[in-house]
Amino acid sequence: MTNHSCWNAETAEVGGCERCPALIESRSRIVNGVGPRDAALLFVGEAPGAREDERGEPFVGRSGDVLDEALRAAGLHREDVRITNCVRCRPPENRDPTAAERSNCAGYLDREIAAVDPALVIALGKVPAERLLDRDVPVTGEAGQIDRVRIGGTDRPVLVSVHPAATLYDPSRRDRFEDALVTAADYAGESGQSTFGQF
Ligand code: URA
Repeated sequence: MTNHSCWNAETAEVGGCERCPALIESRSRIVNGVGPRDAALLFVGEAPGAREDERGEPFVGRSGDVLDEALRAAGLHREDVRITNCVRCRPPENRDPTAAERSNCAGYLDREIAAVDPALVIALGKVPAERLLDRDVPVTGEAGQIDRVRIGGTDRPVLVSVHPAATLYDPSRRDRFEDALVTAADYAGESGQSTFGQF
């Protein structure tokens, strides 16, 4: 179970969590979500990498560059969306977070989703997709699909997307990634919850 005394409801941030021994060793800091507390779109990645750990902000390395470009191509701005991760501390050698680490951090993500109450949650890659949909997700096959799932007792739409890093290894996935972000932009626009200045 997550230690909710580490959750600050006012800032929607985690502080001082020590639930994952390996991550306490590997992290320089806890990397919390960034972006408006009332964002229409909430992007969820896997876990911070080296740059994110250094800067204390999600998606500021190479994956972040890909995400920023695709956001712009979809007519969105990074400042208008919320970006967070399933796991808030950098795993050693950038390994995948373990099942225990994902589970330790799960309550924080649920609380952040409840606090932001977005029109759409976007799962960037397999780890967040499987965590949020609570089933096996073949991401390449399901990219662009929106499932409604219960998160923290509320029914929410979750869009499956390939992870931005996957487009660096396999550029043929770039179109799928950009298409998913166009779907997200459309969804937010139609929800009437849009916070985008240009619409
Ligand atoms: N990859 C992720 O999943 N999250 C980040 O914050 C950076 C890279």
